[in-house]
Amino acid sequence: MKKILKLVTLSILILGLVFAVGCGGEKAATDEGAVYKVGTDAAYAPFESVAPSGEIEGFDIDIMKAVAAAEGFEVEFINTAWEGIFSSLNGKNDIVISAVTITDDRKKEMDFSEPYFESTNYIAVPQDSAIAAMEDLKGKVVSVQEGTTGDEALTEFLGKDYKDIKRFKGTPEAFLELRNKKADAAVADSGVVGNYVKNNPDANLKIVKDENFPKEFYGIAVTKGNAELLAKVNSGLQKIKDNGEYDKVYSKWFSE
Ligand code: ARG
Repeated sequence: MKKILKLVTLSILILGLVFAVGCGGEKAATDEGAVYKVGTDAAYAPFESVAPSGEIEGFDIDIMKAVAAAEGFEVEFINTAWEGIFSSLNGKNDIVISAVTITDDRKKEMDFSEPYFESTNYIAVPQDSAIAAMEDLKGKVVSVQEGTTGDEALTEFLGKDYKDIKRFKGTPEAFLELRNKKADAAVADSGVVGNYVKNNPDANLKIVKDENFPKEFYGIAVTKGNAELLAKVNSGLQKIKDNGEYDKVYSKWFSE
């Protein structure tokens, strides 16, 4: 009797094991249950920021979640400093979504999805500032997040040796410099400047636009050579553009 009981228990155990392994295999094959690490510099509202709850939120975050849901994979967001965010794709993160502009230089280092958002750079200045164009930045102190396309554009326009481009690790610090009157202007992506000026009325800032800042497109980046993941991201992006999910996320974060 005891022997039989033992045998039955053992069979159940083995059955369970076989079942679990079987499921695991199936999951890997369809990618269901795969968890990809997504790096984002979550100090760039409304694209990515840390909510009071501690959770990372924003337009990019919702887009990434929708893409993952459409393709049946999971994502875990990792708050990653902008400096080094691209090299985080060599082992630390599988994906980077961080309002990253697709550029030829960056394409050498990583692979980009199809563009998912159009952007440019705007200048934020005090409401009473005489700065009305990029040209007027000559001789002025300008703050910007280091290593962004805004930094590149300013460096190109004002010159490599221009002393008064103040480069910060994060965009919030660049805005703070402007608010503290230690900079005459701050440059960042259009959506971010728009969001900041609107949500900080006490800062008394206004937006200056200049078409000398080129049109840019954001892409979702994956580790160079990860064609399989890139294909999934592109397929997911297409699906959410087709089924209206993209538009829903867009109106949630850019209401007017
Ligand atoms: N679009 C700009 C670039 O790619 C700025 C992006 C900054 N993103 C961020 N999360 N801080 O250079």
